[in-house]
Amino acid sequence: MFCTILHNLQSPTNVGTIVRSHVAFGGNEVVFVGHDRPWRFKKSTQAFSRRLERLCDITYLKSDDDLFDWCNSHHYSPIAIEIKEDATPLADFCFPEKPALIVGHEGTGLPYSLLQRCTATAFIPQFGDVACLNVATSAAIAMYEFRRTDNAYRQISGSNFWVPADRRVGT
Ligand SMILES: C[S@@+](CC[C@H](N)C(=O)[O-])C[C@H]1O[C@@H](n2cnc3c(N)ncnc32)[C@H](O)[C@@H]1O
Repeated sequence: MFCTILHNLQSPTNVGTIVRSHVAFGGNEVVFVGHDRPWRFKKSTQAFSRRLERLCDITYLKSDDDLFDWCNSHHYSPIAIEIKEDATPLADFCFPEKPALIVGHEGTGLPYSLLQRCTATAFIPQFGDVACLNVATSAAIAMYEFRRTDNAYRQISGSNFWVPADRRVGT
């Protein structure tokens, strides 16, 4: 069981892509932090989410204090997915039972004050000449790594994973 925390994200492309990955990897809540009003799932987001937000339990929190209170009351361990000098490489990271996977703003990343309050920080090692990954790519890699050893994945039907007809949203 995991939830995905979008900390102050701005891009409809990234939000839509993260929602799609979140559903694909069987996440629980999607939590938006730092917005004045609920995210508007307009066409620019839905082109990437495939309208899968309708399957998500979405929560909106205003501040970091609200985020840590929410994690506490829902028994999630806040885990920052971020580049940080003393962070753990993702493949070596020992996930807690209920991680809240927190990813950060496209330009500025996660603030230091938030990183200090997280249970742990994990980073995705990089090898080429680029300083960081796209946030939606990072979120998907973290979700996959959390679920990687879980064999209870959906059966493959043709070239897709099998989905009940009443929950199918495009391919
Ligand atoms: C584009 S990055 C933020 C920019 C960058 N941190 C900076 O200050 O220039 C957006 C988010 O993607 C995630 N991210 C990107 N590359 C990552 C990596 N190699 N490992 C873990 N998280 C990463 C983090 O959550 C980060 O907050």
